[in-house]
Amino acid sequence: MLKDLIDIKSLDKFQITDIIDMAKRFENGMAPSTVEGKTAVMIFCENSTRTKCSFELACQRLKMNILNFESATSSFSKGESLKDTLDNLYFIGADVAIIRHSKSNIIDEIDLKYPLQFVNAGDGNHAHPTQALLDYYTMIEKLGSVEGKKIVIVGDVAHSRVAKSNIELLNKFGAIVTICCPEYFAPSNNLGVEFQADLQIALKNADVVMLLRVQKERHASGFPESEYIKNYQLNSDILNKIAPDAILMHPGPVNREVELTSELLDSKKGETILEQAKNGVFIRMAVLNTILGGVK
Ligand code: CP
Repeated sequence: MLKDLIDIKSLDKFQITDIIDMAKRFENGMAPSTVEGKTAVMIFCENSTRTKCSFELACQRLKMNILNFESATSSFSKGESLKDTLDNLYFIGADVAIIRHSKSNIIDEIDLKYPLQFVNAGDGNHAHPTQALLDYYTMIEKLGSVEGKKIVIVGDVAHSRVAKSNIELLNKFGAIVTICCPEYFAPSNNLGVEFQADLQIALKNADVVMLLRVQKERHASGFPESEYIKNYQLNSDILNKIAPDAILMHPGPVNREVELTSELLDSKKGETILEQAKNGVFIRMAVLNTILGGVK
């Protein structure tokens, strides 16, 4: 039984496959489950569009209650700690707290007295497990399986929780992952995957090209933007020449004209990025249904 979803490394292949299968059944119209009437509170201490809205819609489709909590207008401004906030929200009636925070491992630090459940909606540069699950769902919808498939992750790997959670998941399922980035965006260890600094070499035989947002808010100092654009920005010419059949992905939000050109984003190839956002609803329904003990 899974109580919380904190990261991908805590899940085994069977638990991931169960979530993916359940998400597919939700996409196909499976009736709401026994989590009807459970209560979620969305603690978003860092901005979000896709994750927050898709969790809210997932709760609505599961006929759950959503506590209307706004971080900016909450008693955080009076100095209340996250731990005290969560203890109180549990007593008010929350069953699960869905937490986004700019600090890595924030959930591990909270020593709660009460059995509130957690879903990590992205913490610092540590983990974004539901993003990795929805990315995997999107890949297997298109490829059937990722085993033996070449997945190229391009961009700001060092500051990316999305890259780390995706790599953990893809390694479990036998994908061949290559990261491609300049030195200043390279992670401090190789994360157990191939590294190729040259974008055009990295793209050869790619089945999936996953671009990462440049995480400017997590940089201690700036980055050489024009040099990055010259060497790493993806456009239709490069993609169609080197990997014409590759699936193009990006977790969003996109920095137009930085990670990729607008003409590529707005082309047919860019549609998968919106499918990722749509798939997030089914994945988040399945995650909530799983941890709150709904029917399989
Ligand atoms: N991919 C993602 O986490 O997007 P948001 O920051 O908009 O939730």
